[in-house]
Amino acid sequence: MIIKKTLILSLLIAFASVSRCQDKWFPDEELITTGVYYYPEHWPQEQWERDIQNMALQGFEWVHLAEFAWAMLEPEEGVYTFEWLDKVVGLCDQNGMKVVLSTPSATPPVWMARKYPEILITNKDGSLKEIGHRQHGSPSSDKFRELTYRYLEVMGTYFKNDPRILGWQIYNEQKGWADYGENAEHRFRAFLEKKYLTVDALNKAWGTSFWSMTYPDFTSVKIPTQAGNLHHLLDWKRFQSDEMTTFMAEQKAVLEKYLNEDQWVTTNFIPNIGNINPKASETLDFLCYTRYLAHGYTSGTGDRGFRRGFYLDIPFSNDYHRPFKGTTGVMELQPGQVNWGNNYNPQTEPGTVRMWLWHSYAGGSDFACTYRYRQPLYGSEQYHYGIVRTDGVTLSPGGKDFVTFMDEIKALRKEYDIIKTKNKDWDSRQAAILVSYDNRWETELQKQTKQWNQTGHLFSHYYKWLKSFGAPVDFISERDDFTKYPILLAPAYQLLDKKLVNKWTAYVEQGGHLVLSVRTGQKDRSGILWEGDWAEPIHELSGAKIEFFDLLPPVQIESNDGRNQLFLEYLG
Ligand code: GAL
Repeated sequence: MIIKKTLILSLLIAFASVSRCQDKWFPDEELITTGVYYYPEHWPQEQWERDIQNMALQGFEWVHLAEFAWAMLEPEEGVYTFEWLDKVVGLCDQNGMKVVLSTPSATPPVWMARKYPEILITNKDGSLKEIGHRQHGSPSSDKFRELTYRYLEVMGTYFKNDPRILGWQIYNEQKGWADYGENAEHRFRAFLEKKYLTVDALNKAWGTSFWSMTYPDFTSVKIPTQAGNLHHLLDWKRFQSDEMTTFMAEQKAVLEKYLNEDQWVTTNFIPNIGNINPKASETLDFLCYTRYLAHGYTSGTGDRGFRRGFYLDIPFSNDYHRPFKGTTGVMELQPGQVNWGNNYNPQTEPGTVRMWLWHSYAGGSDFACTYRYRQPLYGSEQYHYGIVRTDGVTLSPGGKDFVTFMDEIKALRKEYDIIKTKNKDWDSRQAAILVSYDNRWETELQKQTKQWNQTGHLFSHYYKWLKSFGAPVDFISERDDFTKYPILLAPAYQLLDKKLVNKWTAYVEQGGHLVLSVRTGQKDRSGILWEGDWAEPIHELSGAKIEFFDLLPPVQIESNDGRNQLFLEYLG
């Protein structure tokens, strides 16, 4: 027991010093706080008290509620039933647990879709994204925005300044959506008009003299429905991301009026999905992520790697989201088998969930929350494990791992004075990787080789090695201060402008070490090549001219998740 404790302590001393900074929202001396998703609306009221008492006894410190409960909280337009939710929040409070509330904007109810069909996303073929799934409400629908904010005003007022509430989550897992409806088209044009001011500027940026695409005015621009003009497609991607970002910001602006200064607002990103730029969500208090590692897409490392997941997934998730505002956490962590893996859904290896939890903490997570408490008896996620099994009371293997972890953390909190010790050597190894979704979208639009995978490139050639040196890594964006990092990598940073080159130059002149890679600096921000040499703007900075580049025959990419497969290829 003593050995185990000493081991964990030394690991913590190594990890904890870099990955943590003084946190505004989560006291450092708590190390990490653990929560659980609960959907009381799925279970008989008589079971609520039992379930909540059990969660508290198991060691959970907060409960995540009401994320998809719009139909149960506003069953008819303008009729609100927050009393049942209030009762659940009260039960959590009585059992010493805080609550994270959610905005239900990922699941607009049936009455709304019927009364205001314009809230629904229009698919490419003109049909509507119907009830039956989720994320069917369009961030590009003015009506949907209006109804969401109206609901949030009422919910915010109901739970105004409520000390039982730790914070709020907006929406759920922003990801790819594309609305081809009239309202979206109108908003897309407004976005372009704001960006380019004149249609001539748009024509220039989109190179429309190629194949006779010159637009006479903004109203003749449409949402792209096929591959073609890359510059047009790039702006369409930027628009979708921007729409989601402003939708988040506006929800936050409503909620903010009803919060006290200790309550935060975040949203849970799927790391690496690539459709929505998380780092654009500047108004959020911090970013957090969801993480499902064993789902039949990745073979991991070794014979049983498929039960443990890809070992860089948790470090990456922390290193990507944490630098944004210094706080992050895993909002959804798989407690066992999932139901949605395309290939197959493996069981997790015994002890894996505990290992993931420790990795999350070591990588700087301030909180870890599990998805979900109870395995559902119906709906689309029947085979998805919970902390407890289908009987509602027996701990699943992953549930036991959570309990062990929470016990360990509670014991370690007593050792905080040792854990907080700073490791100076660690600081000197601090590296940053500069990322931008523009580069990712643009290179995916014109890969030049099927092998191209922006994230694979980062992982295989840079991130993996930095981690193997034990270097702390922050994924940062252009607006961040480069000078605090002795090493800055900008791999495949394809789109740039003079301002960025100047910032890099100043960084290097002050002693920074800058690493550039293939594709860096090939195009301007619209994705247009330079009228000059390849990557001309970085010649002076790099001291090298690029005459040409070549492409090699493809490495076979078999897995659905090319990123992992590519990575494994490089592992050899
Ligand atoms: C996540 C999603 C959750 C739940 C979970 C099941 O991607 O955010 O709401 O569906 O998957 O694994």
